Parts: sequence; structure tokens; C-alpha cells
Amino acid sequence: MDRKPIGAISIAIRDRSFKLMQDLIAELRQIAFSEVEPPYEDLLEVVHGIREDIEALPEPLVSWTLISALDEYEYVHPYDVAVFSIATAVAMGNVKRINDIGVGAFLHDIGMSLTKVSSTHIEGEGLSEDDILLYRSHPELGVRVLRQHPRISAFIKAIVSQHHERMDGSGFPRGFRGPDIHLYSRIVACADVYSSLLHRSYLDKTISPAEVVEYMMSLAGFELDKDVVRVMLSCVAPFPEGAKVRLSTGELAVVSQLPAGLLTRPVVRIVKKEGHSLVETSEEIDLRQPEHQTRLIVGIV
Ligand SMILES: [Fe+2]
Ligand SMILES: [Fe+2]
Repeated sequence: MDRKPIGAISIAIRDRSFKLMQDLIAELRQIAFSEVEPPYEDLLEVVHGIREDIEALPEPLVSWTLISALDEYEYVHPYDVAVFSIATAVAMGNVKRINDIGVGAFLHDIGMSLTKVSSTHIEGEGLSEDDILLYRSHPELGVRVLRQHPRISAFIKAIVSQHHERMDGSGFPRGFRGPDIHLYSRIVACADVYSSLLHRSYLDKTISPAEVVEYMMSLAGFELDKDVVRVMLSCVAPFPEGAKVRLSTGELAVVSQLPAGLLTRPVVRIVKKEGHSLVETSEEIDLRQPEHQTRLIVGIV
């Protein structure tokens, strides 16, 4: 049966957003930021497209984008953060200005393009002390890029400036706490952390996608807004449908269905070695069933 995987946004929308972000990042690296016009109208159209795809689903349920090289992260990450944020805002049910949340999510790390720390460091990992200072300036640099553009709302600027603030005051640049952080920034902050952890689980495999979910839950109520985390984890799957995964039994499998409600326990199809190639079998395992409780997904391969 030929159908769009659950959790996938139309490829045309996804590819258009990748191109927009790649062009914007390249421009910011080449010319003075005061001469760069953020592609507001185009991003708004992309956000509308993502919203339409999510709202057409029986319930908001999205997944993330597997990347093959670290340098793709700088334009795939903003797209994933936008998709996670929009899905969560739709699922929360009472959130206004979802378009601003989407555009703000796309632009949240735009200040990174003005620093020399960028694509090879996921969210500031592995930086020297000097580079950490530079990294920590990216929310404010981002606001400077957007400052003189009248179409960019105060909500979008708040998302950019506050996306590293944390509920317990441990964030930067201002150390805001709880309700001082705008709800839209709290949504994007949560999507930002989730996206960076999921990409790390895939790229350096130091944490499994299921552990990412556990870790997000441990941050809920401390660094991240607990209500936002709860809703996001109910509608953003840590395993993309079609992803090849390794089970704790050593078996390889492909995620074939993402059941709403328990996204860490998808239905998988076992893959067997035949000669030199791996072949998907018809053996399907529903990891929610009690007899499969001990089979865990330990990583994406
Ligand atoms: Fe950031
Ligand atoms: Fe980010």
C-alpha cells in the first residue's frame, strides 16, 4: 500500500523550508546582517503548509527527520523545531498565533550564522570557553538580525531571544524564570531540546531515542515547562516511521507503524539477513504487547 508515512510532512514543503533556511544562513555568512531580509512571507507559506498537513491528521502526530551528515543539521534542525512546535501548539488546543510560533521556530537559531560556531556543534556541545561565550550570544544576535524588519512580530523576537531561557532560571542570556518566559518561547525551547537530543541519538548514538524521551521527562517541571513536555511527547514520535532500528535482542527491524498514545513502543517489522543484503520480512511485532515487553529499541541504525 502506497501511503505517506504517519508523521511526515509533504516532501515539497519540507524541501522548500530546507532551501529557504540554507539560503538565509548562507546570506548571513556572506553579507552584513543589516542588509539581509529574512524570507518572512515564504516561511509563513511553509508554516501554513505544515499546519495544513498536521491538521489533516486524525490527531497531531509528527516525527523527526533523519540526517546523513552533521552539516545538514543547521537547516534540518530549524525545520524539525518548527514541526514539533506547531504540532504541540495545535495539540494544546488553546494556543493563538501558531503562525508566529512556526516562523519563530524556523528563525530561533538564526543568530548562530553570525558566530563561527555552527553546524558541527549541536547546541553548543564540545566548545572551548571562548566559543561558549560566542554561542551564548546567539539569541541576542538573532534578535539583531530581525530587529528592523516590521513584519517580524514581537512574539517571533521573543521566541528568538528566549529560546534558551529555562523554567528554573538556569538558562541564558537573561536567566528568566517560569512565567517570565513567554509561552511561545517555552514551546520552542522544548522542541529545540527534543530535536537536538534526537539528532544526537542518531548521529553519535550516546543516548537511545527512548532514553531521550526519559530525559525530556526528567527536565519537565525543572528546565522545561511540564505541560508543554507532556503534550509534545504525546504528539512527536522519537522514531520516524520507516526508520531502521536495533532491538535489545540484537534483531534489526523497521518501524512500520506509530501508534498514537505510546510513541516509544511502535509496531516494527523484523529485518533478516539474506546473503549479503538485509530483507524486510512480513514478521510484525507490536512492541506494546506484553509478550514483547522485554524487547527495547536501543538505537536507530
Ligand atoms: Fe539556540
Ligand atoms: Fe536550536
